[in-house]
Amino acid sequence: MTEKVFGYALAGLEGVLVSVETDVSRGLPAYEIVGLPDAAVKESKERVKSAIKNSALEFPNHKIVVNLAPAYVKKEGSVFDLPIAISLLCACGTIKNDFSGTVFLGELALNGELRPVRGVLPALISAKEKGFKKFIIPKENEKEASYIVGVETYAAQSLTQVVEHLTGVKPLQAVQTQEFVPSEKTAAHSAYDMSLIKGQPMAKRALEVAVAGGHNILFVGPPGTGKTLLARSIPSILPDMTFEESLEITKIHSVAGTLGEEGIVRTRPFRTPHHTATTVALCGGGNKSVHPGEISLAHGGVLFLDELPEYKRSSLEALRQPLEDGVITVSRAGGTVSYPADFVLCASMNPCPCGNYGSKQNRCVCTPNEIKKYRAKISGPLLDRIDIQVEVDGVSYDDLVSQTQEERSEKVKERADAARRIQRERYADSTVKTNAQMGEREMRRYCELSKECEDVLREAFDRLHLSARARARILKVARTIADLDYSEEIGVEHLYEAISYRVYGADKDKID
Ligand SMILES: Nc1ncnc2c1ncn2[C@@H]1O[C@H](COP(=O)(O)OP(=O)(O)OP(=O)(O)O)[C@@H](O)[C@H]1O
Ligand SMILES: [Mg+2]
Repeated sequence: MTEKVFGYALAGLEGVLVSVETDVSRGLPAYEIVGLPDAAVKESKERVKSAIKNSALEFPNHKIVVNLAPAYVKKEGSVFDLPIAISLLCACGTIKNDFSGTVFLGELALNGELRPVRGVLPALISAKEKGFKKFIIPKENEKEASYIVGVETYAAQSLTQVVEHLTGVKPLQAVQTQEFVPSEKTAAHSAYDMSLIKGQPMAKRALEVAVAGGHNILFVGPPGTGKTLLARSIPSILPDMTFEESLEITKIHSVAGTLGEEGIVRTRPFRTPHHTATTVALCGGGNKSVHPGEISLAHGGVLFLDELPEYKRSSLEALRQPLEDGVITVSRAGGTVSYPADFVLCASMNPCPCGNYGSKQNRCVCTPNEIKKYRAKISGPLLDRIDIQVEVDGVSYDDLVSQTQEERSEKVKERADAARRIQRERYADSTVKTNAQMGEREMRRYCELSKECEDVLREAFDRLHLSARARARILKVARTIADLDYSEEIGVEHLYEAISYRVYGADKDKID
């Protein structure tokens, strides 16, 4: 007797419906799983067997063949334990109904308990798009599933509960759907408020522009001047998330297994991978299956690379493509997978090995060669992709101890939010969300320059030896500055400010 039950396999964030068929026939007792299963799925054989026996259900003592179809899709992980168990129980007649409209997800413990699995949210969303309306999932995945409306989801703690539900002995209650509420962790609740940073008006303004338009930003300056402090205050001014954005980010974290108790990501990610992180940790990958890397976990938020020159050059170079495209495609033996990676890059570094080059307070003791070597750790193409490069110098003692109240993050966030609103309206019917994401077409439409502005930009282009990309990025930053100013047109003052963020490195010819 053959019975078919549905499970779900994920490739990146996209899902493939997997039908689990079990054939129980007469013959010497044997038990096989076929259909391109990985090691974890093969091990599922023993888990399912023990779970069925320990749930006081009958395990057939016959020849059993479990087939996972389509065979060309690689099946990974323990997520197929539950559909295999249900298919087996159907095949030997313990359960008799038809479950062709239901998708089963879950790992089984030997004692029959249902354990949580990764990727429930993307699997449910993808299966819903394919017309499935009923799901049975582990209880611990209930939270993330509760944000999906228009489907019937049942969360069970054990195989026994699932069987009792399916046979109608003790039906489960459908998971209650929840309304999405953006995080209450507003600026006021953030651990690092901008008001804690004394002075540094230029750097704070640059941070506001970066967040308002989604631009990459680099802080360069001597040690102990507040670069890390500035970067850590970013979460306090990041814009709130819409439900759609939240779901998109949650999908990635669900696959990576980094979803918290809440089951949904409510605040924009702020990822701070250490400089010893490998390229795989940053970009994603893995030996067998392809996991999302830090850049995908930072999707919709910020990737903060403190002490940029300390990162491996090859890891930094790997960021170049995703910084441009907002998505990363990783190919491994396990298959080719794309993950979204649209993040704001924030980085900090010292200008030279001693850290004081260009400082007004301290003398630099490095040789020109040392400075050149140090700076060469960051490649030109990577620097070219950083729209805002600010030099941060030390603050005076008086400024540090001054009682003047610095502006709170809340105020800065209000201005950045207003600029984001303008951008949302402007790009309402395109896939672009922020000025930083503008393509050639949008730039032609929204970054028109007057004759005077054109002259200013031409001069800067020649004087600073800018690339075509740098020119485009200056225009995008100028667009954000104009938005912060509620100005339809990009004015000369907006353009000057945007150009001023590209002067780091312009003095490189002078170091000799
Ligand atoms: N502008 C500032 N206002 C108030 N405190 C500051 C300021 N700058 C630095 N500090 C103090 O100095 C400490 C060190 O600052 P931070 O770690 O941000 O320096 P940094 O620029 O990142 O240095 P490094 O280059 O060594 O990493 C902070 O924790 C803070 O206490
Ligand atoms: Mg630091």
